[in-house]
Amino acid sequence: MITQDTIQQIQSRIDIIDIVGTFVKLKKRGANFLGNCPFHHEKTPSFTVSPSKEIYKCFGCGKSGNAIGFLMEHEKYSYVEALRWLADKYNIEIEETETSPEFKALQLTSDSLYIINNFAKDFFINALMNTNEGNDIALSYLKERGFREDIIQKFQLGYNPGARDEFSKAALEGQYNKELLLKSGLVVNRDDKLSDNYRGRIIFPIHNQSGKVLGFGARIIKSNDKAPKYINTPENEIYVKSKILYGSYFARTAIDKVNECLLVEGYTDVVSLHQAGIENVVASGGTSLTIEQLRLIKKYTNNLTIIYDGDSAGIKAALRGLDLAVEESLNVKLVLIPNNEDPDSYVNKIGPAAFIDFINKEKKDFILFQLEIALKEAGNDTSKKSIIVNQIAETIAKINKAEEFTRRQDYIKQVSEILKIEENGFNALVNKIIRDKLTKEDLKSQRLEILVTIEDTSGQKDTDHLFNKDELHEQAMVRSLIEFGMKDWDENEKVAQHIFKQFDESDLHEMIDNKSLIKIINIYRQWFNEGIQPTEKNFLYMEDHEISHQVVKLMKVDMEISPNWKKHYEGHIPSREDLYKEEVASTLNYLQLRKIKKMLAENQMDLEKTADPKEQLIFIQTHQHLKKIEIELTKKLGTVIIK
Ligand code: UTP
Ligand code: MN
Repeated sequence: MITQDTIQQIQSRIDIIDIVGTFVKLKKRGANFLGNCPFHHEKTPSFTVSPSKEIYKCFGCGKSGNAIGFLMEHEKYSYVEALRWLADKYNIEIEETETSPEFKALQLTSDSLYIINNFAKDFFINALMNTNEGNDIALSYLKERGFREDIIQKFQLGYNPGARDEFSKAALEGQYNKELLLKSGLVVNRDDKLSDNYRGRIIFPIHNQSGKVLGFGARIIKSNDKAPKYINTPENEIYVKSKILYGSYFARTAIDKVNECLLVEGYTDVVSLHQAGIENVVASGGTSLTIEQLRLIKKYTNNLTIIYDGDSAGIKAALRGLDLAVEESLNVKLVLIPNNEDPDSYVNKIGPAAFIDFINKEKKDFILFQLEIALKEAGNDTSKKSIIVNQIAETIAKINKAEEFTRRQDYIKQVSEILKIEENGFNALVNKIIRDKLTKEDLKSQRLEILVTIEDTSGQKDTDHLFNKDELHEQAMVRSLIEFGMKDWDENEKVAQHIFKQFDESDLHEMIDNKSLIKIINIYRQWFNEGIQPTEKNFLYMEDHEISHQVVKLMKVDMEISPNWKKHYEGHIPSREDLYKEEVASTLNYLQLRKIKKMLAENQMDLEKTADPKEQLIFIQTHQHLKKIEIELTKKLGTVIIK
């Protein structure tokens, strides 16, 4: 792990304009910088970077974050990778904390496996390109299949000679460790001697996201009933099948550019499509998609197009991944290649242009495709049909994020039409499934009401308006705590102390629903008590992404007031800074009012439940007392306008 000290050093050096400016052309505009948003397509710039707050915000698509978040989003780095990039940029030496012996051993093994794989890759390339055997047996085969030499080189294809241990000997000569060689899967132990595992096979190196070789797929040249067509690297410290997408290293920029990822089954499909100029393509390796693979794709795009053989095995494999993909909010399309062809053979047969045409024409929505297949199978059987209605409702209910509202409604409309059922009824069914699920997940009933009923009519991407008012008030309170907490409330106490007096830790959960806001308040209190300055920046760079993300959401990047307007405006324009006490008071009042309303409702319920006159009297008195507080709070709120 990188030490806290190093992280602090990196954070103190961060210049967000410099960092974002590496990737986005920025122009100074008042106190901020402005540019075209790199996360969505736009002609007039709405991407704002604030050097003083050290954050970026796009008023067009709503993306926001700090410099580290920017690198993670734009470069698809992990948190640690972003830190390493920054350390490298600012020449900061990274100190690592003592790691456990197990972790060290793991790292050592991983590093060694990468080194062995790299050695093997070079050995295989040489055997393919520079030996007679490789030329005659393997290169000629690849060329016969139509692979160009530049593509063979790009994908670093190779050949493992047919003799028993040519690679093994070279590896032992190179002083590579025997245990690790076995672990890499490149060699096997036979009669106490190392033998090559991929003898006489064409080698497809499999790269990780940054181009290092994780393992290999080795294809037999002359098909043979006894031997498998491909032998793949066994699972080891670096080759974890469920996390691998063949070709992702070569596809990432193209996927980014066209905002779509094509998914095929085989290694040769990827290579052939590249050769045809279609580079946004990866392969799953013929098994059903895993959640890790889907998340990998989602780092680059939300649009996944699966291109599989028309045979039933291919379709079944594809369908197995569907529900997971929907849950990951991926927009999945499906194309089936006809007549026992696969993408490799088909693109060779009809040519690149016709192939692209075919894909675009035949692309079918995955959910609707699944529905069509099921309907065909059901025929006229009405009981089967009602099962289908429920199944498809379950699938659509997985599209349940607030920002996916429009997409979900689209499906509901289309599916109702295909099934010839009442749209309203189907809508209700889907909503019921969502609600049941949400209740199970113990979500607050209010927020869910909004999730399922609000109409997204504005068309704007910013989803703030979809959240309920309460959440906005909770955010406002925490924002004023972070921004103004260290200012004076009066002669005796700071704003933070005043706020904490209003509700102690046990109160917090009653006053505030949002769990990450509660976390922020508790951390603030702890820092305050320990004498640490709880500044925006300290929250901004916390490793806990939930917190730093929430803090960015809270922070306001002010739009510049036009200098012209300023000139004409007589006198001083009051800012939030000037009015901080009012802001603190009003947000506190609102939350208190909300709590009182809750207590009133609970009291009312208790009152209705009891038949005992004595108890009833107590409840009525409580009611009157609470009402009085409510009226006072409302009056106070009336004098202060909340934003
Ligand atoms: P295919 O049989 O479709 O092979 O398997 P392919 O990729 O089209 O190869 P060519 O065109 O016949 O040369 C699809 C994928 O399934 C995995 C491989 O990843 C392969 O690319 N597979 C297949 C194996 O892992 N082992 C096998 O024995 C067969
Ligand atoms: Mn093939």
